[in-house]
Amino acid sequence: MPFKRLILASELLSVLLVLPAYALTPVSGRNGMVASSEPLASQAGVEILQAGGNAVDAAVAVGFALAVTFPRAGNLGGGGFMLIRMNNGQPIVVDYREQAPAASTRDMFQDGRGKLVPHASTIGARAVGTPGTVMGLAMAEEKYGRLGLARVMAPAIRLARDGFTVSDSFAESIRSERSLLEKFDGTRRIFLRSGRLYQPGDVFRQPDLARTLANIAKHGPQAFYSGAPAKAIVATMQKYNGLITHDDLEQYQAKLRAPLLGHFRGFDILSAPPPSAGGTLLIEMLNILDPLDLSAPNSYPSIHLLAEAMRRAYADRATYLGDADFSKVPVAGLTSPRYAAKLREEILAAPPDAPIRAGDPQSFESNATTHFSVVDAEGNAVANTYTLNGWFGCGVTVEGAGFLLNNEMDDFTTKPGSPNLFGLVQGEANAIAPRKRPLSSMTPTIVLSDGKVRLVLGSPGGSTITNTVLQVLLNVLVYKMDVLQAVASPRFHDQWSPDLLSLEREGFSSDTIKMLQKAGYPVNFRDNMGDCEVIEIDSQSGWRFGASDPRGDGKAVGY
Ligand code: DON
Repeated sequence: MPFKRLILASELLSVLLVLPAYALTPVSGRNGMVASSEPLASQAGVEILQAGGNAVDAAVAVGFALAVTFPRAGNLGGGGFMLIRMNNGQPIVVDYREQAPAASTRDMFQDGRGKLVPHASTIGARAVGTPGTVMGLAMAEEKYGRLGLARVMAPAIRLARDGFTVSDSFAESIRSERSLLEKFDGTRRIFLRSGRLYQPGDVFRQPDLARTLANIAKHGPQAFYSGAPAKAIVATMQKYNGLITHDDLEQYQAKLRAPLLGHFRGFDILSAPPPSAGGTLLIEMLNILDPLDLSAPNSYPSIHLLAEAMRRAYADRATYLGDADFSKVPVAGLTSPRYAAKLREEILAAPPDAPIRAGDPQSFESNATTHFSVVDAEGNAVANTYTLNGWFGCGVTVEGAGFLLNNEMDDFTTKPGSPNLFGLVQGEANAIAPRKRPLSSMTPTIVLSDGKVRLVLGSPGGSTITNTVLQVLLNVLVYKMDVLQAVASPRFHDQWSPDLLSLEREGFSSDTIKMLQKAGYPVNFRDNMGDCEVIEIDSQSGWRFGASDPRGDGKAVGY
């Protein structure tokens, strides 16, 4: 391998020294485990497991609880993907991604001269795709849960009605997004109490949301898509010039899809199919890396090989990926080992400083998506990632119903050649069309070993999601870290365009950085990347080990 170099002693030292701040052990449990971005939501999941619920019951409980306790990303007004693997071996993905309203048009975010209208696809009601979360969670519960919607929604209803104590990070999330939250009446009233910021220790109650949740718990998802919340959504759309109609809501369907299946060094990898790009890219990158010597984590040789795999996979994302119900997406080709072999040859032959266009340094991060992982005592597992897209979505709250709406329309190609919120420049396959689903990066993933669940993981982070999942997965499977080390370890990201290799600010050795720069990588530095929530099942003992990313304020809870 021409670019393989010896790891310098100082490099190795820094690899070994990246963890001291987080040098704790994962949470362990004999029976079940929930890892999410918010402690009260994790606790809600464990409450349901202990009440006799399975992993799906607990996951649905966590999904509704996060809509209450983590409103910057947890939601009723957004969408996502739930990967379920029941212990009978049958895996399934519930695709509850948002959908473009019927009145959407391909150029709807451009002005008469073809220029993107600033913020049109990110702020306000036109940015909203028809929400899928309520249909998706309810479908998962009905098909795979055991306790029923009313029971699993009880913790969320309680948290909304009785309130919960505001944490530092909750107060900060509101403070930092104040300018968005104060733009819309309904949102300002709930999150800013018309001007008085919430302080840590205050109690945050959401009576409108409690009523909406209770309505869904009693009457099922149709209450949301055709009852009082639907009327409130349409009225809010009319007030703020949005496109979603009663017809859009009534026709919305969550879809059951076969997960993608890849193989990596004897493990089976299950992940999300289109309209997420996540599973396709993850498997493509793992296929490229499978036979290569990945050396030590975050050393020059390993960063080089991973970055080259990332660039090529993300270039394919931009060109080929979109909603496969609308255009042909060559998933089989992209995930085939033969295609990976061709890309690998290219990587080994080309210098890493092959011509690189100057990028536009920007930070793409805001943890406005959220992931949770659940495992129960019977070995059923759920990996769920869902989102409003940006923090607090488009900023609009459905008035009277108490929940925020997404700005997922920005995940479409709003204009060919123009970057979206995450710097992604996307292609024709992801153009806006009525009732189409925007391409996602969400990568809920389950790894199997000998047919049994070994790892359950996923993360927020926009375009960085798939690379976060890749690195955490390699940290466990290749570098033999425990799950807490695996999520705590520093991460990096390359998405091909802009052509930048972005390293987290802390944790990379200066020698490694110099070697990367010398090899021609346009290195830049970024803040924290992702918030990975992971569970591992030890195949020998059956113990569950959970870890919530130290970059966030979440918690793994086991019993
Ligand atoms: O589906 C997607 O790929 C994006 N809407 C995810 C957004 C996200 O992760 C924001 N948080 N970091």
